[in-house]
Amino acid sequence: MAKKKNGNGGKRPLRSREWFDAKGDPTMAALYLERYMNFGLTLAELRSGRPIIGIAQTGSDLSPCNRHHLDLATRVRDGIRDAGGIPIEFPVHPIQETGKRPTAALDRNLAYLSLVECLYGYFFDGVVLTTGCDKTTPAMIMGAATVDIPAIVLSGGPMLDGHFAGGLAGSGTIVWYARQELAAGRIDMEQFIEMVASSAPSVGHCNTMGTALSMNSMAEALGMSLPGCAAIPGPYKERGQMAYETGKRIVDMVWEDLKPSDILTRKAFENAIVAASALGASTNCPPHVNAIARHIGVKLENKDWDRVGYDIPLLVNCMPAGKYLGEAFHRAGGVPTVMKELLDRKKIHGDALTVSGKTMAQNLRHAIKADGEVIKTYDKPMLDQAGFAVLGGNLFDSAIMKTSVISAEFREKYLERKGDRDAFEGTAIVFEGPEDYHHRINDPKLPIDENSILVIRNAGPVGYPGAAEVVNMLPPDRLVKGGILLLPCIGDGRQSGTSASPSILNASPEAAVGGWLALLETGDRVRVDIGRRTANIMITAKELAKRKKAWKPNVVPSQTPWQELQRKFVGQLASGACLDFAVNYQKIAKTKGVP
Ligand code: FES
Ligand code: MG
Repeated sequence: MAKKKNGNGGKRPLRSREWFDAKGDPTMAALYLERYMNFGLTLAELRSGRPIIGIAQTGSDLSPCNRHHLDLATRVRDGIRDAGGIPIEFPVHPIQETGKRPTAALDRNLAYLSLVECLYGYFFDGVVLTTGCDKTTPAMIMGAATVDIPAIVLSGGPMLDGHFAGGLAGSGTIVWYARQELAAGRIDMEQFIEMVASSAPSVGHCNTMGTALSMNSMAEALGMSLPGCAAIPGPYKERGQMAYETGKRIVDMVWEDLKPSDILTRKAFENAIVAASALGASTNCPPHVNAIARHIGVKLENKDWDRVGYDIPLLVNCMPAGKYLGEAFHRAGGVPTVMKELLDRKKIHGDALTVSGKTMAQNLRHAIKADGEVIKTYDKPMLDQAGFAVLGGNLFDSAIMKTSVISAEFREKYLERKGDRDAFEGTAIVFEGPEDYHHRINDPKLPIDENSILVIRNAGPVGYPGAAEVVNMLPPDRLVKGGILLLPCIGDGRQSGTSASPSILNASPEAAVGGWLALLETGDRVRVDIGRRTANIMITAKELAKRKKAWKPNVVPSQTPWQELQRKFVGQLASGACLDFAVNYQKIAKTKGVP
């Protein structure tokens, strides 16, 4: 696209001019200007008519996964300056997956709100969204979608590969393994910490295909970052180079008036869904991507993930579904190589526009070929069908199951196979949230055996609040010692993207708002038919109705004002757990323009 002299594609003057020229009220312009000169910007710069570009900074000491964005911002600034823009860096509400109580998911909507206020209330013509740790990526894209000014994602990239005892140690996945070792008495607490810490050898986010790498890959598949951005490890030189190119590119995007609403189309979302299957992406992708869709005004629901994505094969051999980590994934070509395999099979829309100003197909022209090992070819995948199965029934309206992590052992032990249909049945053991689970799981009186299904409730967006990552529950120590390393799990909470547990999660509506899961009792039989996409309590409708009548909400009190506010307005995981009223604001930006 050619550069237009007037900016914003020539349609209107740059947004920043309303602040710094403020023709209607020159005295206000003086007030807007004076404080931005007090650290050295000059009047000539601020009045030069050059685009003012925000760098939405998610890194801080509090957010180690994103902390190196503090350094990368220098290269972003260089890029912005070289392309003729003026950088203004600002902090957004920090989110750290591993440090925040009760759960970092509570803060996604808060960071979203904080970004919307910054983008709307200040003079930005465009913004670089720094992303990394799980929720930072959706929060930033959701915010940019609402305000709809030109925006580009800069991922922070995964940490270097972790190593332990001669093997690879992946973020999160090592924790699940170390917990089994600890439960079985094979390691002590000191060894546990050493094992877990070995997976985090450098700056960057989780190095497995957990929620962070999945969501940054989703950003790239959606067309919101430059090709190749997602997988470059945080410490690599290419990461700094990508930061520079991203800074340069956003300035041109302002002149081209290339906005999130031009990129985040239905086709882009379908591309992301297909990519998620091929990547073996986290179960957190459906709620986050559905939330982004709602904030840009595109209709997308869980059923679309099953319909568009279920039959797509698993191509990426990364933990938890495979064996490699971020460095190998990057060297094998990262997201562009995966997208190219999918494009060649006509599984994605090549004509979707991206932040590069080119289409997805144009971006992929120089993608390197799949090596067949770290990134498999479409003909010889890791697994034929790797999408999410979306289930419903008398337990919930909608819940998802990541079929790409169903192990051979689980298949053997639990699944009855009828034709091409997988199903299993078991006796429910019900926990009222993670504290109850930890308190009772090793209680010898609890009747758990290998035919049990572990169920956790009151762990959803309202119940916990925020929706805790707790559905993948370890069996009691006595079963682990006897070789039963996992049991089927069901819950209205979420599950870590690094977990290889074949759980049924994100059950919506959640128990705390009266979803059917609230009526389940320990001892009930539950039948899950993956082929038919159903999950049901096997009791009579009469008995269910009786329990419904007797049901009372069981919600722990809010501990902070934000918890209370979020609980009042948050929707269910199936529809992205958005603040429901907030999704209307993009329409306002679209019809009236962003003042
Ligand atoms: Fe931050 Fe995994 S904990 S990316
Ligand atoms: Mg997580």
